[in-house]
Amino acid sequence: MSPVTDSFIIAIDGPAASGKGTLARRLAEQLKLPHLDTGLTYRAVAHALILANEPLNDEPTAIAAARRVDLAALDPAILADHAIGDAASQVAVMTGVRQTLVELQRQFASTPPGAVLDGRDIGTVVCPDADVKLYVTASPRERARRRWNEMQLKGQDVDFNDILRDIQNRDARDMGRSDSPLKPAENAHLLDTSQMDIETAFTQALAIIEDARTG
Ligand code: DC
Repeated sequence: MSPVTDSFIIAIDGPAASGKGTLARRLAEQLKLPHLDTGLTYRAVAHALILANEPLNDEPTAIAAARRVDLAALDPAILADHAIGDAASQVAVMTGVRQTLVELQRQFASTPPGAVLDGRDIGTVVCPDADVKLYVTASPRERARRRWNEMQLKGQDVDFNDILRDIQNRDARDMGRSDSPLKPAENAHLLDTSQMDIETAFTQALAIIEDARTG
């Protein structure tokens, strides 16, 4: 497929460990578009609060941390930690934090030539007019298996049932919060990757995008 030439926004949402991040990176590379993993912005806020020994539920302090987030300085290697992901899910329930980060994310998306953004509320809130919306999911058990495998490869000996419970708790928090809960946008294409490898998901996503560009 040829790279996109005009402004084009691809919104990818889905739960933790669904494969949306890998898919977003691959699509951005293929289409020569900038990519923003919006989860990193929530993780950066959580990380700053943890480093400063601040509570995760004090909204004014969390908003101040959100205002200091610099997209150019997000470091996935530091922010990837499982515990930071859980803390990010806690700071993400606060409306003031969301408003601050959504504004940053929209600025990124609206800069030509467009972008691929992945997160929980991209198709529903951040970029409701995105050209293509994908909702990537997989069963909780399959997502826990992937996360467990990843951690084993890094030499982290973790119990599978602990990971499964964390994934279920995170889903409940992300889908159950009152502000911008995780859910598929009305016009999102659903990609269930439970029985699919990344290559198949990538091919299917490219076909959906090609359809949107030519249709
Ligand atoms: O995708 P991730 O695991 O890096 O996200 C960490 C947490 O950040 C996630 O559990 C909820 C929150 N988040 C959000 O509320 N909205 C987004 N667009 C991205 C992430």
